[in-house]
Amino acid sequence: MSMTALARTALPVEPDRLDATAFAADVVAGLTAMPKRLPPKYFYDSAGSELFERITTLPEYYPTRCELGILREHADDIADLAPTGSALIEFGSGASTKTRIVLRAAKNLATYVPVDISAEFLRQQADALKSEFPGIAMLPVAADFGRPFELPVTVRSAPRIGFFPGSTIGNLEPHEAAAFLRQAARILGRGARLVVGVDLIKDADVLHNAYNDSQGVTAQFNKNLLVRINRELGARFNLEAFEHHAFFNRERNRIEMHLASLKRQRVAVCGERIEFKVGETIHTENSYKYSVESFSCLARGAGWTPVSTWTDRNDYFSVHVLSLNDEPPQPSAP
Ligand code: SAH
Ligand code: AVI
Repeated sequence: MSMTALARTALPVEPDRLDATAFAADVVAGLTAMPKRLPPKYFYDSAGSELFERITTLPEYYPTRCELGILREHADDIADLAPTGSALIEFGSGASTKTRIVLRAAKNLATYVPVDISAEFLRQQADALKSEFPGIAMLPVAADFGRPFELPVTVRSAPRIGFFPGSTIGNLEPHEAAAFLRQAARILGRGARLVVGVDLIKDADVLHNAYNDSQGVTAQFNKNLLVRINRELGARFNLEAFEHHAFFNRERNRIEMHLASLKRQRVAVCGERIEFKVGETIHTENSYKYSVESFSCLARGAGWTPVSTWTDRNDYFSVHVLSLNDEPPQPSAP
């Protein structure tokens, strides 16, 4: 079944197997590239989603605490963005913890559409939300938000507000982030608002510690990618032979996560022999950090107008409200 068809049916989907062929192709392409890399969206099977939830509670991982504080402080401002009968569309909804703040405050919301690639986790979270918010229609969509997907038919005529918290936008390359914002504009339509959480550039030690926690949960999250490749693609990565590396790349304002091979080794993946030198890494994630200005500039370039920006008192994290006043940009020709 195609991704579009999956999105149209708004679940149920086969748990965590949105597109097994694409997963295999992306893994082989990434591991045969130089340098080796894997797309971060594949962290999120059910185990990866649970591990991310544990990360959000770690003392070193400040982004969730900061963003929750900002959203609580501005819940009424966000509620004011939602006219009667409107739909909240969240990209990368995870456990929808932050969304609950919005769902409680925005009395005019008729529908919530959580969109996530982690299909089984999404289904479980949507079930829990249905009993917590009986007055709001819950219409989960299991899809890759980086590719074209369709909203459930019932929200196509409702006013739509986009929600993209967590600084998940920072996991996209800046050109992908711009493409995402253009796609969000097309999905949400003219007059829409988009609320985006964006992690800010800050002291390198604070950043370093957030991705090198003392309990090793981030390391486990990173290695879950190999666990998933072993399970779903029949590979035999030895987890003991790889180490979690995360550091702040100052030139590019991004945290880089890698899995470093501790020895010379060869691993068979989908019939390909992947050779590793000692110390060679698989680059698994970038987490870009922005200034308020650099993110506003990115958003403007993608056709959005920044209308409000809120930060916490340390200026660690920002939440931007963007508005789409003009016609959404059309997809560029291939
Ligand atoms: N919004 C939540 C979760 C952030 S974690 C929060 O702020 O805490 C990032 C979420 O985005 C995960 O749930 C992950 O499954 C989802 N995700 C990552 N890449 C995705 C993609 N390409 N398409 C859809 N969902 C994606
Ligand atoms: C989801 N995303 C914004 C997280 C981040 O901080 O980049 C994922 C993560 N990676 C390691 N820790 C958390």
